[in-house]
Formats: sequence, C-alpha cells, structure tokens
Amino acid sequence: MKFNQFGIVGLGVMGKNLAINFVNKGVKLAVFNRQVPGREVNLAKNFESENPGAEGFDDFAAFTASLEKPRKILMMVNAGKPVDDVISRLIPYLEPGDILMDGGNSHFSDTKRRVEYLEEQKLIFLGIGISGGQEGARIGPSTMPGGPLNGYKEVSKYIDLISSKDKNNLPCSTYVGPDGAGHFIKTVHNGIEYAEMQIIAELYYLMRFLLLYSPEKISYVFQKWQQDGDGSYLLEISSKILLKKEGNELLLDKILDVAEQKETGGWSVKAALDLGSPFSTIANAVQTRMLSMLKFKREKAAEIYKNVGSKAAPESLNENELKSALISARLINHIIGFNMMKDASDKYGWNLNLGEIARIWTGGCIIKSPLMEKISEELSSSPELLFHPEVVGILEQNHSNLSKAVSASILHNFPVPVLSAAVSFFYNIISGNCSANMIQAQRDYFGAHTYKRIDKSDAEYFHTDW
Ligand code: 6PG
Repeated sequence: MKFNQFGIVGLGVMGKNLAINFVNKGVKLAVFNRQVPGREVNLAKNFESENPGAEGFDDFAAFTASLEKPRKILMMVNAGKPVDDVISRLIPYLEPGDILMDGGNSHFSDTKRRVEYLEEQKLIFLGIGISGGQEGARIGPSTMPGGPLNGYKEVSKYIDLISSKDKNNLPCSTYVGPDGAGHFIKTVHNGIEYAEMQIIAELYYLMRFLLLYSPEKISYVFQKWQQDGDGSYLLEISSKILLKKEGNELLLDKILDVAEQKETGGWSVKAALDLGSPFSTIANAVQTRMLSMLKFKREKAAEIYKNVGSKAAPESLNENELKSALISARLINHIIGFNMMKDASDKYGWNLNLGEIARIWTGGCIIKSPLMEKISEELSSSPELLFHPEVVGILEQNHSNLSKAVSASILHNFPVPVLSAAVSFFYNIISGNCSANMIQAQRDYFGAHTYKRIDKSDAEYFHTDW
C-alpha cells in the first residue's frame, strides 16, 4: 500500500480549497471530514471522487493509518474548542514524532498551550497562520508557521509547495518562531488588515459624500492609484466593489452599514496592550466596527443631532491630496504593526525576522501590496521603519495632506477615526517634547506618584507638595 503523504482534517471553505491546492501540487492527500446528518454528509468521499489523488475518510483510525510516518496532519476546523476536540480524538491514533498542525485563526496563547501539551505526549504541534481567503487557499496563500523547529522542518516542503510565491519565486512562507509565534503574526496581520480596510472605507466615504464623487469616479480614481503603484489588493477589490450593480443599483448601497468581526482584530489590540505597544490605528479600526454595530442608536442620534449630509464641500480636497493621505496613513499603520511585532519579539524572545515576515506578506495574503514589497526591503537593512530614509522621505512628502484630509473631514462633521489616529500617531511620535509632563504632574498632584526631572538623573524620582 502506498501511504498518503499529508492529511487534512476539515473540509470547510478554507480546508477544501487548501486540499485542492495540495492535490493540484501533486501531493498524495488524505482528507477527513466528520459526518453530520443533514449538514456534512460524505464530504470526504465526495472530495475523493472530484479530486483524483485524494483519499476521503470519515473515520480517524483509517485516516491516520493511511498516512506515512511521521504523520503530517493539518487541522482546518473552527478556532477554540473544536481544535481541542479534534486533537483529543486524534491522539489515540498518533505515534511519537507525528505532527499536528492548526491552520485556523487560533489564539496564540491556545497554540502555545497545545504545543506544550502535545510535547508531553511526544507529539509535535505547529500553529500555522494562513491568509488569502478561499482563493488564496486554492492557488497559494501566505503561510505563517510557528512552533517547534524540528516539526517545521518535517513539513516545510509541503507548506512551501502550497504557498504563494513572491517576486523572486520564493514561497510566501517562513518559519516564524517558537510556540504561538505563527498565530501571533497572523493576528497582527489581521489587525493591519482591519485598519487598511477602514482607511479605504473612510476615503471612499469622504469622496462620495463630502466631495460628491460618483461611485464610478471613485472606482476609477482607486484604479489610477493602483496603476501608480500606490494601491493594494484591498484597494483593488474596493475599486471593483464600487462597480458592482444589482439591477440598476449599486450593490454596495444595499449592504447594511454594520461591520462584523471575528476575534482576531481585537486579539491583536489586546496583545498590543499587554506589550505596552502603541496601536492606535488598529485599535480605532476595531472600535469603529463596534460603533457601526450601534445602528439603531446611530439612526436615532442622527435624527436628534440633525447630522444629515448637508455639508458637502467638493472643493475641499483634490485627488492628489487624497492619494497622498492614503499613502501616509497606510505607511503609518504598517509602522505601528511592525513596531508591535518587534516589541513582541523582544518580550517573548522569539527573534522574529521582520523583513521575512513582510516578504511572506508580499503575496497570497489580504494585505499584499507594493508598499509591503518596499517594507520587506527596508526591514532587511534595519528593524526601525520610522527612521528608514525612504520612509522619512515618503512621510515628509505626504503627511500634510493626511492632516488636510482629516481636518477637512472633521470640519464638515465626517468621522475619520483611522485617518485621524494615523496622523495623531505621526505628530506624536515626531514630537521630541510632548504633553506627558502634564500627566506626570497631575499623577503626582493627586496621588503622589512621583516624577522624573529633565535636569536630574534618569534614576531619580521626585515628589512635590503641590
Ligand atoms: C485572511 C483573513 C481571514 C479573516 C477574514 C475575516 O487573512 O485571509 O484575515 O483570516 O478570517 O478577514 O475576518 P473578520 O471576520 O474578523 O473580518
């Protein structure tokens, strides 16, 4: 009997598309899916008949027996309890050295716990961040594997094979680091993704309702920015969204303005808080989705405060200024995200290679863009993006237009939470002197918390009887 080289558990949208990717790359694949009457019936057998080269199972004993050793099994099940359930059901069929991988959006602390637990069972657990949605999964996602290095070495050839390729034809995959590092990085990816989406949404909204551009014109402008090399995958899909009609009407106008979210964006914000790492663009993007959920309250408040879009000001910003606002807000958001990963690497001793992380995000994933290409080159010479000469040049050239876009919006009562967060972060970080001396004085006044002085050594604290 010829054994299967690789196994996948879970044929949901991502699992199934990844499985197709493996089969298309010539991997002899075993797929497992449970039977749930009325909902999940014969999914694995159906997959087998549609995909020659794959073998389908609904029984863990036969599935695991079909795999060559050490067994390599990728779980594509919902994050949380389902992952623990599948692990405990698989363990009786596994042998020392077998490798279990979790390709879902799991919390990195769960992944760390699972790595440790499986190590006690003499098994290897890897947490693999996977980005790219269903299309990426099928043709080549960006993959972020983390966990024990020896386990990674066993599976890397398969993971590399199914991953997207960068401009030099290298896989958009790299060993990220130990324990939960892979899932941590995926979480930060999603945080950056949330803010990128919100920046585009804010610019769209401004162009449409403050500057009175038609959806077609906005789409055209987005496409132009894309052609200038200042776009991103997310800008590209947004330009297409703006052209999608249902009958004679724009589909976008029929979509309820309530943004949902799963948990990864919020997890990245909590992680940044734990690290003490400034994360304002991403925190604001998460909060703005939360605010959108208050649809009923927003509608009622709109009536009371009469905030009806009567403040249109078509002349207040031009296309170049808007593009320049996009360029600076996106760059600042990336600086914030990469800085947070550096803080995590230092705190958790992960030794993250930030240049490599940017490189594996240049293809396959949701936040791929020409900017990410630039960042991957910049980070290879220094981990501090903010001080990189090219970054300094871009921000010097563009920040005043971000400031102008934010000012024009606020003056006309348009909310721009992530654009504002970006410009405030930037003016804060480039302020050698800031307002924090007042905070220190207040803390000392009401709570005798003490303060340091600019004219004394850094080791000394002072208190004043105010
Ligand atoms: C990706 C995405 C994906 C995520 C969706 C939805 O990289 O392919 O990040 O993993 O699940 O973007 O996330 P929300 O439902 O939280 O918006």
